[in-house]
Amino acid sequence: MSTDSTGPTGNLVDAFATLGPTTNPIDLPQITVVGSQSSGKSSVLENIVGRDFLPRGTGIVTRRPLVLQLINRAKGTPNGTSSESSEGDEWGEFLHLPGQKIYDFGKIREEIVRETETKTGKNAGISANPINLRIFSPNVLTLTLVDLPGLTKVPVGDQPKDIERQIKEMVLKYITKPNAIILAVTAANTDLANSDGLKLAREVDPEGTRTIGVLTKVDLMDQGTDVVDILAGRVIPLRLGYVPVINRGQRDIEQGKAITSALEHEREYFENHPSYRAKAQYCGTPFLARKLNMILMHHIKATLPDIKQRIQSTLSKYQAELAQLGDNTLGTPSNIVLNVITEFCNEYRTILDGNSQELSSLEL
Ligand code: GDP
Ligand code: NA
Ligand code: MG
Repeated sequence: MSTDSTGPTGNLVDAFATLGPTTNPIDLPQITVVGSQSSGKSSVLENIVGRDFLPRGTGIVTRRPLVLQLINRAKGTPNGTSSESSEGDEWGEFLHLPGQKIYDFGKIREEIVRETETKTGKNAGISANPINLRIFSPNVLTLTLVDLPGLTKVPVGDQPKDIERQIKEMVLKYITKPNAIILAVTAANTDLANSDGLKLAREVDPEGTRTIGVLTKVDLMDQGTDVVDILAGRVIPLRLGYVPVINRGQRDIEQGKAITSALEHEREYFENHPSYRAKAQYCGTPFLARKLNMILMHHIKATLPDIKQRIQSTLSKYQAELAQLGDNTLGTPSNIVLNVITEFCNEYRTILDGNSQELSSLEL
């Protein structure tokens, strides 16, 4: 098994992680989720990725942050080994299991559960210590998603008395960063005015420039009610709007309903529902994914000058350091950092090139 199986983004993020937060010159954009417990956050993320691998369910299932890097890796990319084609071209790797490629996404889920329990026990405990997972696939966009525990009020099991505050702080740590795109998830069968997700998102993004409202469980709304007024911005307006989605229900999970049939069901639901069929192309997971990607690209474009500036000053700093050390610097830490930054610049350009078509074809 190759230990050098990570793509440039992977190496880069690890390299910066070892540099520590104060020396890290670049904050990569991330997609984060915020919302009440069991509002459907993990389900939404899983549908965006298009693979079954996140633990979902009623009660507190997500109990540690999961930092999920998706890395687009075309078939036959040179650093792959020849045995890969027989094993499949999609796999996951955990930071805590270096060099292990996991091709079975069910096993990835098991490992998330196992690693969650290692740090938090089995009885509903929580931990701010994140699990880091990378998914390599030809079918994903290169970006980072963060799954987070849901906002909750009353402690259960081994949870501390101040569970509400602890989870809030954990979530704030991720959504406060200006490079975080926030999916504020609210179940459509609950009152939007009571949405914990929207409330917290507004605290860190009062202008709403990086918050998308996601309405889950549209299929569970009472007969004769719908989210049309919310979508039209007549309830709580959001600058980037709301996207209604339908994820798999608890019974679908128990029966192992495939993600493809879930997406098919979602599409049929919106296309045939009298309230939504006229606007069906603005409903559902595929629209959410496109909208997200476009917002991400706008975000990258907007922050690019600043990032360039920071890369430039970091480069100058290390070049000066290198000059002081003389020519015999091969393999010194400074040299590694220099390589890493160069790699980052290239990777960044690739991401921009790869996704820029989306930018021009979509409107906000
Ligand atoms: P999280 O706690 O916010 O991450 O929520 P989960 O994704 O774990 O989902 C919580 C429960 O709600 C699970 O039983 C899901 O099956 C169910 N669920 C989530 N979204 C939907 C939806 O759109 N429709 C239905 N019917 N059930 C959903
Ligand atoms: Na849950
Ligand atoms: Mg969850």
